[in-house]
Amino acid sequence: MTTIREVAEKSGVSITTVSHVVNNTRFVSEDVRKRVEDAIRDTNYQPNALARSLRRGKTHTIGLILPDSGNPFFAEIGRAVEGEAFARGYSVIFCNTESSPVREDFYLEVLAKKRVDGIILVSGGLPKQAYIQVHDQQTPLVVVDRDSSDLAIDAVLTDNLGGGLLATRHLIGLGHTRIACLTGPSSVSPSAQRVNGYCQALLEAGLPYDENLVRRGDYLAATGWTNGLELLRMPDRPTAIFACNDMMAIGVLRAAAEVGLKVPSDLALVGFDDIELAAYSNPPLTTIAQDKQKIAEVSVNMLVEKIGSQEINGRREFLQPTLVVRKSCGSQLQI
Ligand code: RIB
Repeated sequence: MTTIREVAEKSGVSITTVSHVVNNTRFVSEDVRKRVEDAIRDTNYQPNALARSLRRGKTHTIGLILPDSGNPFFAEIGRAVEGEAFARGYSVIFCNTESSPVREDFYLEVLAKKRVDGIILVSGGLPKQAYIQVHDQQTPLVVVDRDSSDLAIDAVLTDNLGGGLLATRHLIGLGHTRIACLTGPSSVSPSAQRVNGYCQALLEAGLPYDENLVRRGDYLAATGWTNGLELLRMPDRPTAIFACNDMMAIGVLRAAAEVGLKVPSDLALVGFDDIELAAYSNPPLTTIAQDKQKIAEVSVNMLVEKIGSQEINGRREFLQPTLVVRKSCGSQLQI
């Protein structure tokens, strides 16, 4: 491994001068710059990136903390964030927490030790602890998807209540009056907001709220399947189900098949996220789309701005979800 001393000797300058050329931290003449750059090229010298970053205070690396990298929604968010960061000259360190607060704290510490320039966090719960932790470390933070409304935190969020309204209004518009709702985990804000949208749509249509039709899920396909079996085996079963994410909706598809119901003729189904798989399930899933590319673009832009300015801005960007109609809802309910 070539050392900086060997480069200095080869180019006939001091080690300090080589450092200034590598880090662009002081003017050097064109002749000296060329001699040093020729020596670096000829010796294949690799400046110590960490040492360089310690001098500059920038590693051009950001941390991305996700609660479940096995969920396609987060995998697609991760892919989009990496693409947006790479386009801006940043590399990404991915951390998966399995929604564990202990692992979230652990990775926040790890990223601080690795001197990342900033962090994008999708918290497994409320990002309040993380916000306090990174605020002390002066690490720029942007939260995505899950928010703590009592903090001056920079956040990129979805209008989840609007998404719940869109899904439920769509089913009501098809003539359904017994609509079930599969919720996500109570520990995260988006799910409760979607359920509020579901309730608001029932209320505005004059339909009763039946607590037997609302089942607690955890965003996993397995609980979509188990809750789907219970709901579809009810004597007065629902004719439609709104699942608060696509993975649970895909679990419902299996449950419907196992109890001999056809989607959409016997059961209308709407999901949430519009993961890539939603277009290829059987039947293709009607869902509420979150624009993952837009989420990545806005959150990376916000973080890069914060890295440059170190100001705590408390900006909240709300992105509007959209209804994507495929084949899991069918046309007007045949009563
Ligand atoms: O599918 C995972 C869910 O968790 C998504 O709907 C996302 O919004 C997050 O809340």
